[in-house]
Amino acid sequence: MVSKAETRAMKKALKLAAYGRGSTFPNPMVGAVILDLNGDHAGDGFHRKCGAPHAEVIAIASAGDAASGGTMVVTLEPCCHHGRTGPCTDEIIRAGISRIVIAMTDPDPRVSGRGIKQLESAGIEVETGLFSGKARELNRVYHHYLETSRSWITLKMALSLDGRTAAADGSSRWISCDKSRRLVHRMRTSVQAVLTGAGTVRKDDPELTVRLADTLSGRQPVRIVVSSTGDFGDSWKIFKSPGRVIIAVPEGVAMRLTEYTGIPGVEVWEFPADSGIQGINLTSLFERTAAEGIGSILCEAGSDLSTRLLKDKLVDSVSVFTAPVILGSEGRPAFELLGIDNIENVIRLENVSSHRSGSDFLTEGCVVYRVD
Ligand SMILES: NC(=O)c1ccc[n+]([C@@H]2O[C@H](COP(=O)([O-])OP(=O)(O)OC[C@H]3O[C@@H](n4cnc5c(N)ncnc54)[C@H](OP(=O)(O)O)[C@@H]3O)[C@@H](O)[C@H]2O)c1
Repeated sequence: MVSKAETRAMKKALKLAAYGRGSTFPNPMVGAVILDLNGDHAGDGFHRKCGAPHAEVIAIASAGDAASGGTMVVTLEPCCHHGRTGPCTDEIIRAGISRIVIAMTDPDPRVSGRGIKQLESAGIEVETGLFSGKARELNRVYHHYLETSRSWITLKMALSLDGRTAAADGSSRWISCDKSRRLVHRMRTSVQAVLTGAGTVRKDDPELTVRLADTLSGRQPVRIVVSSTGDFGDSWKIFKSPGRVIIAVPEGVAMRLTEYTGIPGVEVWEFPADSGIQGINLTSLFERTAAEGIGSILCEAGSDLSTRLLKDKLVDSVSVFTAPVILGSEGRPAFELLGIDNIENVIRLENVSSHRSGSDFLTEGCVVYRVD
């Protein structure tokens, strides 16, 4: 049985955990609250960034002596192994916690149930499953990484009412309203990288930084541009605006990019040419980004790259703004051919939310792929 105070504490722990968004990867976001013997709030903490103390340790320190005999409410099973920091289970046992309420077990095979067993063996009463759905959703990037070794990809698009991304001449600024554009800048602050294709760079010369008023957080996402040719036309803004820029190209193209690699922050990643496609294997790209600590990526590309990502089943969630404008079938479609020949084969979304964003409508959801 979970008490009302513990339920309230878990809601707070989930909120605290979210403060670590974008900074904890490859660790999960975790929040913890400690209730004293009377069920009153005694301390709390969250995991701020990878390598920093874990939420449980911070919460114990902030509760002081009140932790002894108290209850810990935590969004994820405490770790029981030596990583960058020591095992949290040892700290919890040492602090004299008598009961622990855990939202979900840790899918990391080094922990997965072992943390709970250790706590139970030490005589601590353990309750699991409170708000487990919310806890899983909170750490979807972490779960995805453990399951696939890849970064989480969110495909963001601004569409006309008739599903077009640009007019016939390629102009697309601005399909969406001011409010939606500010929201996109906020989305950029919550991911670790923004991805686009060379087609958008050539056509729009975008910066893809966070720069609109009230969205500035001081943190700029890494910008990634994929190209099979290394041809960016006369566009320079993305390379010259401050921050890290990765140009991802097939082997042999880097030597054509010397005028870009001289710019501070710009680096080139080469991948073996993929015999089946023109360009690089995008799965390899996202395995490398994840290995380099980039957990989440917002894709802001045109129909070519967006289609390739969907076809390769690499889009994990979508954020689509629909604006009250019509571009006609001469406009650029959101996607090219996807090979969907029957309504039964559509790509569906789950956990869908829709709401107004100024004069636009924002629909978000996770992509469900058919198992072939
Ligand atoms: N409404 C919106 O939300 C939105 C958002 C972004 C862009 N747009 C519009 O979209 C239009 C551009 O669309 P687009 O389809 O041409 O551009 P895109 O999808 O952004 O870029 C396509 C290019 O990306 C590179 N690429 C794609 N897959 C690759 C792979 N696997 N390996 C290596 N390189 C890869 C290729 O570059 P190379 O040619 O160098 O090989 C390809 O030509 C513009 O008009 C822009 O305004 C609209």
